Amino acid sequence: MTEFQPSIIVHGGAGPIKDDSLAARLDGCRAAALAGWEILRVGGSALDAAEAAVIVLEDNPLFNAGTGSTLNSLGQVEMDAAIMAGDGLRAGAVAAVTGIKNPIALARRVLEDGRHVLIAGEGAALFARAIGFPECAPASLIVASEKQRWDNKHGTVGCVAFDQNGKLAAATSTGGVFNKLPGRVGDSPLIGCGTYASRVGAVSCTGYGEAIIRATLARDAVQLLQGGSEPSEAAGLALANLAELTGSSAGLILIDSRGRVGYARNTTHMPVCYVTLGSDPKTAV
Ligand code: GLY
Repeated sequence: MTEFQPSIIVHGGAGPIKDDSLAARLDGCRAAALAGWEILRVGGSALDAAEAAVIVLEDNPLFNAGTGSTLNSLGQVEMDAAIMAGDGLRAGAVAAVTGIKNPIALARRVLEDGRHVLIAGEGAALFARAIGFPECAPASLIVASEKQRWDNKHGTVGCVAFDQNGKLAAATSTGGVFNKLPGRVGDSPLIGCGTYASRVGAVSCTGYGEAIIRATLARDAVQLLQGGSEPSEAAGLALANLAELTGSSAGLILIDSRGRVGYARNTTHMPVCYVTLGSDPKTAV
């Protein structure tokens, strides 16, 4: 008999979905949540589950992360990712990386390496090479639809998981915002901004990074959990704070220390999927 009932939630990014891809995005979120759930179900860690779920989303060209990432002002892909374990506040992140198929897996290697929390740009490439992490041709991450639809791309991805040992983890990955300057780093790899996990709660955010960074949205949501808010209430209050402080909209997913799932958005869409013990995967937009 396990002490804790696991749970997992993923998001496929907040923002308007202007084409007919909503159903496919929900399918992508479901596949990612189930990949993480398979790990949790057999007693695996929240950290492994969150990483596995985000890899599925990174490999899906519909989402703005990994393959299918949005392009910067030079027409190149530069990606950010972070992963954090709530137990011990261990974190790893990479920023403005190119030529890496799964940035979340490289972020995990930064976490396991333990010397640093965030490695950026060419330094991240050097780190990848030093540990023998596979690289890919940067152009292989650019999909045809992305070239055609530069201005309709959104869909940072994220996952938050709670395992049978009662441990939390959060992971977020993104290609950033359309037409960004080379070297621009968004909220996703910044601990406390787009990604955060502690023993109180774990959070992954999606939205306009420049606003999320200034409001430290993920940490704000965990503070609200600590203050006694229910998960979805905390998510909604954190977004209200963001809107009041910055005038910006966003979305976030979270899980509290009891494994309760919450999410909120004040954008038009945010595909999510969550799984809890004894129930089928549930999706929402
Ligand atoms: N939230 C993703 C970004 O602004 O980079």
